[in-house]
Amino acid sequence: PTALAGRHFLKELDFTAEEFLGLVGLAAELKAAKKAGTETRHLGGRNIALIFEKTSTRTRCAFEVAAADQGASTTYLDPSGSQIGHKESVKDTARVLGRMYDAIEYRGDSQQKVEELAAHARVPVYNGLTDDWHPTQMLADVLTMTEHTAKPVDRIAFAYLGDARFNMGNSYLVTGALLGMDVRIVAPKHYWPVQEVIDRAHELAEASGARITLTESLADGVRGADFVATDVWVSMGEPKEVWSERIAALAPYAVTMDVLRATGNPDVKFLHCLPAFHDLGTKVGQEIHDSHGLESLEVTDEVFESAHSVVFDEAENRLHTIKAILVATLA
Ligand code: CP
Ligand code: NVA
Repeated sequence: PTALAGRHFLKELDFTAEEFLGLVGLAAELKAAKKAGTETRHLGGRNIALIFEKTSTRTRCAFEVAAADQGASTTYLDPSGSQIGHKESVKDTARVLGRMYDAIEYRGDSQQKVEELAAHARVPVYNGLTDDWHPTQMLADVLTMTEHTAKPVDRIAFAYLGDARFNMGNSYLVTGALLGMDVRIVAPKHYWPVQEVIDRAHELAEASGARITLTESLADGVRGADFVATDVWVSMGEPKEVWSERIAALAPYAVTMDVLRATGNPDVKFLHCLPAFHDLGTKVGQEIHDSHGLESLEVTDEVFESAHSVVFDEAENRLHTIKAILVATLA
């Protein structure tokens, strides 16, 4: 068994910096092995339950393909396809699935639910996104950063622009703080993470040497950044009505070519966990376009399609990093 055998992954801070970076390193090895056709299966006979109370493309597919590559099987429970929450408590669900499965992934709104699953399942539980945290995404983002810069992790500077009160903003802040990075949250103050998360980041920074910046100033926030990241302005589960207010507040923080130029770094790379509203040619996008007359939201099409953009490497890395967490906790 590995050092992380049997462990949960409910939030980034479940791991030390060494453990977190160890997983990123394992993911890089698994990625290289898959590409070379030399991957070995560590998870034969394992069964993994995937609970999705919110929709997903990348996270679900990453878990399913990672498990299949490693010889494990999965059961996908869709947002309406289980009794969890409405007809059966989280605690009972945890005890039932824990008898049948070797691990459980959970995506939904509440962090408390995934913690409750973990408290009662007796098998590793992984957070596939809650309103508070997106820890598996952070493994992929750090792997992607290491692939696109020669700098050691604790020398990397990145700026996150947009709504930072939700999973992605929180996760970037604490991950950067944990790993000793230069992390900047660039948004109107109202959209910064809650004080408790900011305080935690400052505490972590004392130990890790991280530089933490929260600023409303775009110019100060992005100067010298190696990576610029953003996320959707309205997250899953939020009502449609907030779009107008978000667009008004966050439009100045959209990632444009001018923003990338303001970093002063010609090699700056752009990150986005996806899905992204870089063009509004989707059903939801069309509604926003029709009501607000915009062509793009958090990132322009020009940036998204440019050589700065590494979003599809980042998306692919969901597979390799989720595989790493499975192998590390279950092999
Ligand atoms: N980035 C991410 O979590 O994507 P999905 O919502 O498609 O899983
Ligand atoms: N903040 C987004 C992330 C999606 C991967 C959401 O929660 O919808």
